[in-house]
Amino acid sequence: SRSYRIAVIPGDGIGVEVVPEGLRVLRRTAELYGFTVETEQFDFASAAYYQAHGEMLPPDWHETLVGFDAIFFGAVGWPEVVPDHVSLWGSLLKFRREFDQYVNLRPVRLLHGVVSPLRDRTPEEVDFYVVRENTEGEYSSIGGRIFEGTDRETVLQETVMTRIGVDRVLRYAFELARQREKKHLTWATKSNGISISMPYWDERAETMAGQYPEIRADKYHIDILTANFVLHPDLFDVVVASNLFGDILSDLGPACAGTIGIAPSANINPERTFPSLFEPVHGSAPDIAGRGIANPIGQIWSAAMMLDHLGEHAAGEAIVAAIEDILVDGSVAKTPDLGGSATTGQLGTAIAERLQAP
Ligand code: NAD
Ligand code: IPM
Ligand code: MN
Repeated sequence: SRSYRIAVIPGDGIGVEVVPEGLRVLRRTAELYGFTVETEQFDFASAAYYQAHGEMLPPDWHETLVGFDAIFFGAVGWPEVVPDHVSLWGSLLKFRREFDQYVNLRPVRLLHGVVSPLRDRTPEEVDFYVVRENTEGEYSSIGGRIFEGTDRETVLQETVMTRIGVDRVLRYAFELARQREKKHLTWATKSNGISISMPYWDERAETMAGQYPEIRADKYHIDILTANFVLHPDLFDVVVASNLFGDILSDLGPACAGTIGIAPSANINPERTFPSLFEPVHGSAPDIAGRGIANPIGQIWSAAMMLDHLGEHAAGEAIVAAIEDILVDGSVAKTPDLGGSATTGQLGTAIAERLQAP
């Protein structure tokens, strides 16, 4: 029978609170859909691990994780204990880069039952994907400081765009757009101001658009693109962006769809040379951590994306259906970000119990 080995890394803050809800739903789905999930949980990639070891990860983290079918990740970051750039470059960003998870796929959907802050928007009008480049671009460690401590202090940080890196994420986005009904792709740019890397990005996107005549492809500069996410979310279908622009768009999109507590993400290595990593878009939320009020839906929906990636498409769809079903059910309490008073565990349990057998 079908069986999957999943590495579980809860991380910090609300990561530790929402991951068990993701697993609860995952296990119930496995029972109903006739496969097994074997999980192994790891305490690294957390502030507590850093305090104990002075590093975010053990030296053999790569061999430890590489054989798993997927990684189910919560969130990392506890700035009181370890600076964010240290904890993130020491863990999540390392996974993305070393496991070549060059696509960060982040759906933006206004689900029925959720109120959007955008006036009068309906679920039909907010339904698109952000495809974020996930291994290069503005997230580079090339640069440094010179003349430190003097009034000539100077800081440089390079953006990296490789032809392989740009083309492969564009290719993924065009292929995704091809499978969708609207067949519309938008690429984010800023080639008017960022005069070297962004014109290159545009050039590669234009070249690829030429290979997909059936797709309507357009580009927006990132500034007006953010405005249009708010004013005309109905314009978008697949939005592909560089690492930093994609990061920004993938918090803005879910905020327009009600709450970032719902948004999932898939850090994908499409070639499957390495395990892919599934995590909510949100972070460790120190401001609400420890209170049991975090929305678990981003984590649970990430489990659905993980099952889809593993080939369990029906099971993944069942999870999304259960989420949608619970959200429209007025008799089920929601977490405070959705205007309710439920705990993380109550909402997770409600979703697990609502799952439909095939
Ligand atoms: P955040 O996403 O953790 O929180 C932003 C706001 O959204 C907070 O007010 C928080 O309470 C709220 N929020 C987030 N998730 C929620 C949920 N599931 N339910 C209800 N409310 C939720 O972003 P931040 O405050 O910028 O970052 C906090 C820490 O998390 C930092 O250390 C940051 O570096 C890290 N971070 C990690 C990841 C990751 O691991 N993928 C992502 C983003 C931020
Ligand atoms: C995300 C996060 C990370 C990113 C941070 C925590 C480094 O914001 O996954 O969106 O910028 O990629
Ligand atoms: Mn982000």
